[in-house]
Amino acid sequence: MERKGFSKENGKMLCDSVPVEDLVREYGTPLYIYSGGLFEENLLRFKEAFKELSPLICYSVKSNSCGALLQLVKQNGLGADIVSGGELYRALRVGIPADSIVFAGVGKTRSEIEEALEAGVYLFNVESIPEAQEISEAAGKLGKTARIAIRVNPDVKADTHKHITTGTKENKFGIDLEVAEKYFQQINELPHLELIGVHCHIGSQITDVAPYVNAMKRVVRFVNMLREEGIHIKVLNLGGGYGVAYHPEENPLDLITLGKELKKILEGLDCQIIMEPGRFISAPAGILATRVIYVKEGIKKTFVIIDGAVSEFIRPVLYDGYHEVEPIQDKQGRKNKVVDVVGPICESGDFFAKDRELQEVQSGEYLAVRDTGAYGFAMASNYNSRPFVSEVVVYDRNHYLVRQKNTYADLVKDEILVSEWQ
Ligand code: LLP
Repeated sequence: MERKGFSKENGKMLCDSVPVEDLVREYGTPLYIYSGGLFEENLLRFKEAFKELSPLICYSVKSNSCGALLQLVKQNGLGADIVSGGELYRALRVGIPADSIVFAGVGKTRSEIEEALEAGVYLFNVESIPEAQEISEAAGKLGKTARIAIRVNPDVKADTHKHITTGTKENKFGIDLEVAEKYFQQINELPHLELIGVHCHIGSQITDVAPYVNAMKRVVRFVNMLREEGIHIKVLNLGGGYGVAYHPEENPLDLITLGKELKKILEGLDCQIIMEPGRFISAPAGILATRVIYVKEGIKKTFVIIDGAVSEFIRPVLYDGYHEVEPIQDKQGRKNKVVDVVGPICESGDFFAKDRELQEVQSGEYLAVRDTGAYGFAMASNYNSRPFVSEVVVYDRNHYLVRQKNTYADLVKDEILVSEWQ
């Protein structure tokens, strides 16, 4: 059977069965390459692991919003977790049904709320009382009723980077459970809203089952409390955060164990379960392919300078994110060397790996930065006036250019020069 994703055969990196070298020669570098096969396989693995909960799986669009990948989400019958009008637009564009879209985010604007109401999204995950008031008012004006879930903050610590924890009292997300317990009636009494669910998302890149279990126990108590108050809660959204193994010694979250634990907690609750995986589906399904420009010997360090930069992939500097870096073609018999792999941008934070053992590569060779399918292009910028680069999807032995790289003209196409100054 064909192996999905990125693997090496005789030292040559393949994406599904296509040599990565063929792709970089055809499309140039830097280049985001996605294995559509692995992306889809991850969707199916996720579905399979939680099948006893029969959840509505809403792929988290923010992790990778590439239209072609969203088409695969749609083809596999999944819904979408969105956080902005832009993400709503992308999801609807590929035909993901509005009634399987859930809308989170602490700062939904009036126009975004109206767009979502017009489209008929399934659920607003409400993160504050003022937001509930705004949705109520907007729904009233449009003659609609908005289905909402209260996003609670269960105050559990997940062992992840401080920039991607979301479920503690220090975070801006959700309504603190104690506050929600006191003030839920204020939300429930608002007109034009139907309070049908509870949502929580405790953080991202969580590789341990325990924080989910702890959070769920607290959330289930809240659901029961609301029901005792006569509020008919029928949806429980567990959020996302399901962690992957970026480092060879790291273990991904054990989905099967989590599935079993959740089943125990949620058994008999009689709620529709929603889950919002992002990274688990998209991260391993992507690499950033780059070319070595120079190898620079410093006094203390050797720098492998590549044509990819923090503008294409910000995780290493933003979250101390570890990502494997390797040549797309191994060369037999050469030694390893400890190097820094860096980009051309004028920032010390423009790096992919520090003090990393890597084969002694030379300029002109291609390197792959692994597991960049999530929060890669999605967080890209044009810093240092670097145009956005191409994206390619490999699927069923074919490859598709799914984003054309930008030109210098694209960089300035929305700028307006002041005519009087010419
Ligand atoms: N649901 C909600 C409400 C979220 O806020 C997020 C992610 C997800 C689902 C999906 O989380 P995932 O399954 O992908 O972990 N840029 C950071 C991650 C930020 C995550 C934000 N929220 C990174 O590169 O690690």
